[in-house]
Amino acid sequence: MEIVILPTPEECASIGGRIIANLIKRKSDAVLGLATGSTPIPLYSELAKIHKDEGLSFSKITTFNLDEYIGLPGDHPCSYQFFMKEELFDKIDISLGSTHIPNGEAEDIENECLEYEQAIKSSGGIDLQVLGIGSDGHIGFNEPGSSLGSRTRIKTLTGKTIEDNARFFDNPSQVPRHCITMGVGTIMDSASLVLFAFGESKAEIISKAFEGPVSAMVPASVLQLHPKVRVIVDDAAASNLSNIDYYKEVYANKPDWQE
Ligand code: F6R
Repeated sequence: MEIVILPTPEECASIGGRIIANLIKRKSDAVLGLATGSTPIPLYSELAKIHKDEGLSFSKITTFNLDEYIGLPGDHPCSYQFFMKEELFDKIDISLGSTHIPNGEAEDIENECLEYEQAIKSSGGIDLQVLGIGSDGHIGFNEPGSSLGSRTRIKTLTGKTIEDNARFFDNPSQVPRHCITMGVGTIMDSASLVLFAFGESKAEIISKAFEGPVSAMVPASVLQLHPKVRVIVDDAAASNLSNIDYYKEVYANKPDWQE
């Protein structure tokens, strides 16, 4: 696990953009796992910029998003389908047919979840999964207490997540109570992962998740068991970590042979 600490979200996004661009240069048909929420917005702006300025093509890429609210139509401004088009897909040359977001309006949700798992498998698996982290430690919408081996399924959002996400809606009563999310086990199957977190509101959970014990009560802590994880945080989100100096030292002195 590598913890990278940089002063601002923009600098974190710039490193994230480079990691993804390098992957696509190596493997033009890479499979990316994507997240929504506030955190990946600077990363998506960076990818759009790399596409525009450097001509990086996403035309052969396949994507799978982590989650979607149940009951919101895809054209609802708070749906994750809408978010992805606005923040990334409309700004790059990706083929929309190669993007996947769970269908929160599916009549048979259970089957939708099974098919989502199957589609990930058929694509050859996720090469790189982008993650944010909820203030309660969730990844995707795997709330505290989620099985660390769980697969894509329906979840009920906690009061804390509803409260956190109410800022995107006109009022808190409009936040859906249920979602479809990739499971923790599904996320852990990705070949590599990059988790971003910004701001002081994430400081406590970042230290619990990456310097505390692995526990289903902090689902992100399971990433400690994955061999290829980068945690990229700004100074504010890193402020509660006890080993800050060491993480900075490691990053500043990375040998050239290490990517
Ligand atoms: C959304 C997702 C969530 C968010 C988390 C943090 O696709 O996977 O786990 O990453 O809720 O949200 P923000 O970034 O808005 O703080």
